[in-house]
Amino acid sequence: MEILFAAAEVSPFFKAGGLADVAGSLPLAMARLGHTVRLVAPLNLAEPPPGASLLPNRLDITVAGRHEAASLWQLPLEERATLYLIDCPHYFRRGHVYDEDDLERFTRFSLALAQLPYLPGWKPDVFHANDWHVCLAVREVSNAGGPPVLLTVHNVQYQGHFSPEWFEFTVGTFPEAEIFHQNRVFPNMLGLGLIQAQTVSTVSHTFAREIVTPEFAHGEETLFAHRQRPVVGILNGLDYDDFNPAADPMLAVLFDSSSLEERAVNKSVLQAWVGLPQGTGLPLLGMVTRLVEQKGLDILVPALERFLLGAEAQLIILGDGETRYKDELSCLAGIYGNKMGVVFGFDEGMARLIYGGCDVFIMPSSFEPGGLGQLISMRYGAIPLVRHTGGLADTVTDLTEDLSQGNGFVFRDYTPETLEAALDRAVSSFALREEWIRLQRRVMGLDFSWGASARDYEALYRIMVEGSRK
Ligand code: GLC
Repeated sequence: MEILFAAAEVSPFFKAGGLADVAGSLPLAMARLGHTVRLVAPLNLAEPPPGASLLPNRLDITVAGRHEAASLWQLPLEERATLYLIDCPHYFRRGHVYDEDDLERFTRFSLALAQLPYLPGWKPDVFHANDWHVCLAVREVSNAGGPPVLLTVHNVQYQGHFSPEWFEFTVGTFPEAEIFHQNRVFPNMLGLGLIQAQTVSTVSHTFAREIVTPEFAHGEETLFAHRQRPVVGILNGLDYDDFNPAADPMLAVLFDSSSLEERAVNKSVLQAWVGLPQGTGLPLLGMVTRLVEQKGLDILVPALERFLLGAEAQLIILGDGETRYKDELSCLAGIYGNKMGVVFGFDEGMARLIYGGCDVFIMPSSFEPGGLGQLISMRYGAIPLVRHTGGLADTVTDLTEDLSQGNGFVFRDYTPETLEAALDRAVSSFALREEWIRLQRRVMGLDFSWGASARDYEALYRIMVEGSRK
């Protein structure tokens, strides 16, 4: 099959979150199954990446009745997988993915993207779109009778709201206004995609059930109901070549499940980095996260206030996000300087050291469509401690008392108390040294690579193609 895959972020070129990891690895997994994949993103870099070449195609887009031109860069990634970057003067090339004028920017991106299925030599069998940024293209391609469209929702919280007047002025007639109105939803790009896409999926089985409910749908529940078709759940995989503790140049020391003692070096480098006492005696808990409500910061801060008082443990947090959480975490780190270190910002090297050096990796998310941190931590021998929600529920099973079954620490209610109890449980389990090492080995042996999930996408694409032929 020929697959057109579009997303706003693509790792390793430009990344703001987990979407980039998926867009950077799923297309390659599909190419390795023998499909031809064209991966499309905005040119979010200041300059085209080395090796990219400018194609002669000019994409003519009409915005607010005026013609604007976009151009197209091409970068071969590997056999059968090519990255295409859409370049719109003024709107991209900013060196970051998201900005205040995203509605205007992704409107242009989508209008250009929607023309690609019709370029000479392109004949995609399916168009796989991701998140709200490309939903205007979902609509345009669907309306034009193009290839069947799969919309994967990675985060339903981000929707791209607009007024009907803006749409009519910028894009043109807006017949969907009636559907939004009937379903009592303020017009938004994600909703347009939900109305128009042939198939909608999300990135875990549990979240596929959750996403249609008012608790998780962020106001889009009536549009999910309007579709009258279930949301498909396909679990995200992890790129096992990129994330490999036996070959990761960002680690201080490489290791695998037969040389777990080497992890101690990564742990001590981490401890030194944030000024914690060095040593292996205490469990080191780690987090790599966006500092936002979704990631559980509301329960984390009060849980830590109590946990750190008595805990025989150390904690390291790397992340960026909302100022209020930064202030609260700095304050805690100020009080418990010998137990807790925080670093604000994002540093891939430090993130890898956290996965490859800490003992327990914490993800207390309020919701989590897929979650990659827990998969990376398991690959690197850090035991996940997660809330039972979305993709976390699909990938982490709570440990029994003797640590012989299960692969992490799971708590259910979204409260500081349940989180604190799970943290205490992890600390006491760490003391059972031999069982802990056996647990680490077992967790490292689990397979969360793309294999099975890429086959699931392949099967889904086939069903969509068959369905569109009828
Ligand atoms: C979003 C979700 C996260 C998921 C990622 C990739 O960032 O919040 O749960 O893993 O997308 O699908």
